[in-house]
Amino acid sequence: MNKVLVSLLLTLGLTGVAQAAGDAEAGQGKVAVCGACHGVDGNSPAPNFPKLAGQGERYLLKQLHDIKSGVRPVVEMTGMLDNLSDQDMADIAAYFASQKMSVGAADPKLVERGEALFRGGKLEEGMPACTGCHSPDGAGLAAAGFPKLGGQHAQYVAKQLTDFREGNRTNDGDAMIMRSIAAKLSNKDIEAVSSFIQGLH
Ligand code: HEC
Ligand code: HEC
Repeated sequence: MNKVLVSLLLTLGLTGVAQAAGDAEAGQGKVAVCGACHGVDGNSPAPNFPKLAGQGERYLLKQLHDIKSGVRPVVEMTGMLDNLSDQDMADIAAYFASQKMSVGAADPKLVERGEALFRGGKLEEGMPACTGCHSPDGAGLAAAGFPKLGGQHAQYVAKQLTDFREGNRTNDGDAMIMRSIAAKLSNKDIEAVSSFIQGLH
């Protein structure tokens, strides 16, 4: 593992939210309201709603805290987490993490450019490959809170990368990892890498 990654892991470890142990079975009884958008098992049918199934537990819990506190604004979810305790959110994260994310398909016209970016980055511009943190098959690194990407809806992924680039999503920590990576991506790059990710597994 390289030095940047190690120091990043330490930073995330030190700033990570205190975690209650989640109970997936209890979580299943608390997600009825979420199913309308994210799908009952966390495989959302709509391309603008992220799939939560099989996503890393630690990442999910961090997002729930960030969304609840407004650090990551999600207007569609306004007020929905207000009555959930830390334990409820831990249980919900454990439930979705225990499900299996479905896989989509990449656009054959975009796959070559998308794969080159995902696996090779843009070294001449100092942008690392996505594989270093999100892993070669897109599974992410659950223990570190690096999200799973493989199989995620392309439209949702493209919106996140654009939001990071434009400064509309800023919850990637003081190291600004994703904001600095997205700053190096053109609209065409984002379209291609997002399409590739949708079919990756
Ligand atoms: C009305 C639709 C809607 C409902 C209901 C809803 N969400 Fe969401 N959720 C969204 C949208 C839209 C986003 C992504 C917003 C964006 O583009 O950044 C999101 C994002 C998330 C994320 C971040 C996913 C990621 O990959 O970063 C989590 C976690 C999440 N929702 C959990 C929940 C939970 C738990 C519930 C039920 C308590 C819920 N949501 C209910 C629409 C909804
Ligand atoms: C040095 C590590 C690192 C590298 C390299 C990296 N990422 Fe990330 N990425 C992260 C972390 C950490 C997060 C979660 C930030 C947070 O907590 O909200 C993230 C979040 C994301 C998300 C949001 C996921 C979701 O469900 O909302 C997307 C999309 C993403 N990265 C795509 C990429 C792409 C595409 C590349 C390569 C061009 C890349 N990342 C390279 C660490 C990295």
